[in-house]
Amino acid sequence: MPSLGGLLKKRRTKDSQGNSKELESNSNSSPAAAETQTSPVPAEVPANSSNSAQPQSSANNPHSSSSNAIQSSDPSATSMQHVVAQNQQATHSNSGHQHQQQNSNVASIQNIINAPQQDGAHGATGNNGQQNHQPQVIRSDARSTKGKYTLDDFTLQRTLGTGSFGRVHLVQSKHNHRFYAIKVLKKAQVVKMKQIEHTNDERRMLNRVRHPFLITLWGTWQDSRNLYMVMDFVEGGELFSLLRKSQRFPNPVAKFYAAEVTLAIEYLHAQQIIYRDLKPENLLLDRHGHLKITDFGFAKECPDITWTLCGTPDYLAPEVVSSKGYNKSVDWWSLGILIFEMLCGFTPFWDSGSPVKIYENILRGRVKYPPYLHPDAVDLLSQLITADLTKRLGNLHGGSEDVKNHPWFAEVTWDRLARKDIDAPYVPPIRGGQGDASQYDKYPEETESYGARGEDTHGHLFPDF
Ligand SMILES: Nc1ncnc2c1ncn2[C@@H]1O[C@H](COP(=O)(O)OP(=O)(O)OP(=O)(O)O)[C@@H](O)[C@H]1O
Ligand SMILES: [Mg+2]
Repeated sequence: MPSLGGLLKKRRTKDSQGNSKELESNSNSSPAAAETQTSPVPAEVPANSSNSAQPQSSANNPHSSSSNAIQSSDPSATSMQHVVAQNQQATHSNSGHQHQQQNSNVASIQNIINAPQQDGAHGATGNNGQQNHQPQVIRSDARSTKGKYTLDDFTLQRTLGTGSFGRVHLVQSKHNHRFYAIKVLKKAQVVKMKQIEHTNDERRMLNRVRHPFLITLWGTWQDSRNLYMVMDFVEGGELFSLLRKSQRFPNPVAKFYAAEVTLAIEYLHAQQIIYRDLKPENLLLDRHGHLKITDFGFAKECPDITWTLCGTPDYLAPEVVSSKGYNKSVDWWSLGILIFEMLCGFTPFWDSGSPVKIYENILRGRVKYPPYLHPDAVDLLSQLITADLTKRLGNLHGGSEDVKNHPWFAEVTWDRLARKDIDAPYVPPIRGGQGDASQYDKYPEETESYGARGEDTHGHLFPDF
């Protein structure tokens, strides 16, 4: 029988019944810009197609040679390395946990704990402050859909990741020489796995969103075999890899990542978008150690109710497993699972890696909280990982504010966090802006060459690419 350790190391794949019965709806939300980013091809490329997206921002000079700051030895990097080393030896004992907490991330984490109250009305109020923050919606110009990319615009490099439906490559733009990530999906496989609607949604949802903790989509195209999505290359690797190396995160580290995810979920829900695939494999670290959520393969515009069984088994809410209609609150359930996994190193319903057993456990709903968890964490988790939708935090009258105001998050200064004004607990050891993919696992490379011409039997199914 495989060991728990062996199974936990594997990245988890999605589950989807494919044939969605989801309610369609309209939205009037617009994408928004939060930071300077650079388009991989010149903005003045003639618009020879309407089926690709290219965000426009006055700050984006595609020919700019502005240097990318290279991360040097940030003290917080060293402190997290201690955590990794300590955790590799740590037992799951109470004293071990406290020891890790004392030693980890002191400088960085103190920025979220008792941060200076210099932000006037927006500062944290300390204990469960009841300020009524508006959801962190960062808006700017809507993206235009000028321009079109082709494979010829990029030099293809190694594979960064593979998932249930796609393969993601590191690429370099031949125009501005910057590095990007391109997700390639085989159309025949998407059709076979009944993911046409999800794939079109992935592209549409990604095109709409703009937030500091969400991946940026620059454009898409297709050839006769494949679909291509150009995104920013997020250099620091998956949170999944960091978590498995660390075994589990100390309370303040888990809190930092959970808080950034909370802001991203809050933003998506304000846009009427449900994410549905929260898990450490989809959370990437940028060069400074802040999170970027990638993989919008199950993101969906959903102002009310939807029914599709999709997500990753460990992270599914009971109402999804039991094929009831469900709403955005499934993302708050998944946030609970994510926090649990960060603090414990395993998910609460994990059971020998078998999805059926995991589903049975989810429906049974019994969660065993290890004694080393902080009481505030247990309190928050029990209010997120609850089948009772009238009690689930995030789904109540106060919405995301209830989550943000929970005592476990009391030290977080949310507006500073949203501005990335709080140092991350761990800075990935990479050379920024150099196409350094050292934080990503190696995968066997794709043998089929891209750019096929020839007959295209599925192209009409993907009109937006
Ligand atoms: N922008 C990016 N920069 C760097 N790596 C990325 C980026 N986007 C995705 N990846 C890597 O590729 C992996 C697979 O991408 P993605 O999750 O989008 O594919 P998927 O087929 O939908 O995955 P799954 O089914 O496993 O959830 C990610 O887990 C990550 O390791
Ligand atoms: Mg994924």
